[in-house]
Amino acid sequence: MGVKKIFSGVQPTGNLHLGNYIGAIKNFVDLQNQNNECIFCVVDLHAVTVKQDPKILKQNVRETAATFLACGIDPKKSIIFNQSSVSAHSEVSWLLSCVARMGWLNRMTQFKEKAGKDKEKASVGLYIYPVLMAADILLYDATHVPVGEDQKQHLELARDISKKFNTDFNAPDFFKIPEPLIQKNFARIMSLKDGNKKMSKSDPSELSRINLTDSDLEIINKIKKAKTDTGSFPTSVNNLKSRPEIENLIGIYLSLSGNKIDHLFSEFKDKNFSFFKEKLSDIIVKKISPISKEIKRLNQDPSYIDQVLEDGSQKAYELSSRKIKDIKKKFGF
Ligand code: TYM
Repeated sequence: MGVKKIFSGVQPTGNLHLGNYIGAIKNFVDLQNQNNECIFCVVDLHAVTVKQDPKILKQNVRETAATFLACGIDPKKSIIFNQSSVSAHSEVSWLLSCVARMGWLNRMTQFKEKAGKDKEKASVGLYIYPVLMAADILLYDATHVPVGEDQKQHLELARDISKKFNTDFNAPDFFKIPEPLIQKNFARIMSLKDGNKKMSKSDPSELSRINLTDSDLEIINKIKKAKTDTGSFPTSVNNLKSRPEIENLIGIYLSLSGNKIDHLFSEFKDKNFSFFKEKLSDIIVKKISPISKEIKRLNQDPSYIDQVLEDGSQKAYELSSRKIKDIKKKFGF
């Protein structure tokens, strides 16, 4: 297959975790290393859909960029930038919000979850957040968008907006119809404390997630305390039914080790969960420890991070200015 145009984004809201890594960032690195054209964005405009402390936000933008670099995204191969530095994102978001339909947005489950019971008090930005996401993607003619499973519905909306725009303006190929790249397995990493809840930055319990900045000891401790059940170690896929916590730990093990599930069943045959947890901690520490050290090293060098973001923003600005001119022409501006 030819070169893909990749776009994806991560919110700078602190505490990037193993779910972000396995569901998204690990795949960004693979796609980059397969020589695709990649743009990875720190989506700070998305972050302000809920209240942020400006000083902490600035720090989190840097830390998210540092995480991209520490995980293996190479600014010589990929564009890394922050969304607010390229004004076309906000502008196109407005234009596309005149194409998207209320009914489509009303169906977005993430808005319902995030707004909670009191949705009258949610920001308008939180409601139209998926339109900004569509703008991010369509502005760069991205063909493929690597995301975790929780973003699937937003990607479908981006596709619908793209198709409607092309039809409304009688411009069949004007916007690409972006393909989601969601892993078949383990595209949703769950909380270590509740296998029915997504691993999330906003979970108040630190024990629910492995942060990419955790120390080896913290990782070992969190895995020790991760919820399991009173059953014995599974010996087949059938044994995983209705055991979401076990399925999740096994998913993390498989995605980081690259092993096949049958191999795992024979490796841990007749073993108990504490033995499995020791091996799981080893694998996580091996993966995360170098990333965590590199994030901490890069955090000491903010001017380098700022330079990477500035160079990336310049490139993103150049790419987006061409497209936004054409978009405005379509509207008659
Ligand atoms: P965000 O910042 O919530 O998450 C960043 C990426 O991490 C994935 N992810 C997970 N994957 C597996 N298991 C989990 N527990 C888990 N938690 C998070 C997310 O699916 C995502 O891929 N709206 C987006 C950011 C965005 C974007 C875009 C993405 C803005 N514009 C354009 C793609 C294209 C978000 O809030 O992701």
